Parts: sequence; structure tokens; C-alpha cells
Amino acid sequence: MDFLDPVRAFLACPTPARWIEAAQADLPLLLQDHANCEKKAAGTAMNLLFRYSGRSELQVLLAQLVREEMLHYEQVLEIMQARGIPYRPVSAARYAGGLREHVRTHEPGHLVDILIVGAFVEARSCERFAALAPHLDEELARFYTFLLRSEARHFEYYLGLAEQYSPEPIAARVAFFREVERELVERPDTEIRFHSGPPG
Ligand SMILES: [Fe+2]
Ligand SMILES: [Fe+2]
Repeated sequence: MDFLDPVRAFLACPTPARWIEAAQADLPLLLQDHANCEKKAAGTAMNLLFRYSGRSELQVLLAQLVREEMLHYEQVLEIMQARGIPYRPVSAARYAGGLREHVRTHEPGHLVDILIVGAFVEARSCERFAALAPHLDEELARFYTFLLRSEARHFEYYLGLAEQYSPEPIAARVAFFREVERELVERPDTEIRFHSGPPG
């Protein structure tokens, strides 16, 4: 899967093996949190669509992204339903908040940082689907392999938009968030979530 190369090169580290073990051990929880993540991914992009109405490239790419994330959401719900997994409330991981707390408040830095964070969330999702797939049953493995293709594309949308809308090269900002992201993924966590660290 060549399209995974840029995603892996973008991230500072692979998913820890201990996270993969823990995630497999509670699939109903993982699926519920995964469903929540798809809905949040759509919500984040929808907020950007309203906030940056004049940015035409962003409108086109994120309109498509919202549609795809909502499709993924529906698909996860269908799998949960078919497996008799009831809805249960699952608290958010520290991950998205941990990245967003470093987003600049002034423009255009705010938009550029939100887009870079989006690129990391999509890249990590893609890398995690690939890491998990070999450990799952056939149906889930097929589904996650399908999903990671679109998350790889979403990663490129966000990164391309960040480059386009930044008045300066984004390499330093990307390097900064890469370290924040690595820390969130490698530091032991109290709760296992789709984007959590390994069990502590
Ligand atoms: Fe998705
Ligand atoms: Fe996505």
C-alpha cells in the first residue's frame, strides 16, 4: 500500500504495539469511539466550511470530506447494529484537545494550525487503521482497509490547504505539532480510545 508511505513519513512514530493489543481486547468500545470520531471529523470540517466561506479551495475539498466522514459514520453504526453492540456514552480521548490547545488564536495562524492538526488526525487515523487491520476479523479488516484510503486522501487535503493558506512555509509548525502528536500517542493513557496512548 504505497499511499501509506507519505502518511508514515509525516508521523513521528508508529502506533505502539501495546495500544493495538488493548484496542483489540475491547472492540465494542473501539467501535463506539471510532463512530464518535467520524462524526467529530465531519463536525470539525463543517465548522471550517462556515467560518471560512470565502476560501473556495477549502469549500470544495471539505464539502467532500464531510460527505465521506458521514458515510463512514453510517457504516460504523451499521456494523455496530449488525453485531448487536448497543450505543454507550464514551468520553473523548485527550488527543484532539491536546493538539488543539496549541492552535494560535490570531489569523491566519489559527486557520493554518487547525488545518495542520487536521492533517495529523487524519494521518494517525490512517496509520491506526492499517496497524489494526491484520488483527481484526475479516469484515472489520476489509472495512478498515477501505477507510484508510480515504483518510490518506483527507490527510493530503488538510496539508495542501495549510500550505496554500499560510503566508510562510509551514515546515516549522508541522515539526512542532509532530512532536506534540508523538507525545500524545506514546505517553501511557488512563483510557483506551481510538486516538489514545497505550494503557498506563
Ligand atoms: Fe473517516
Ligand atoms: Fe477522514
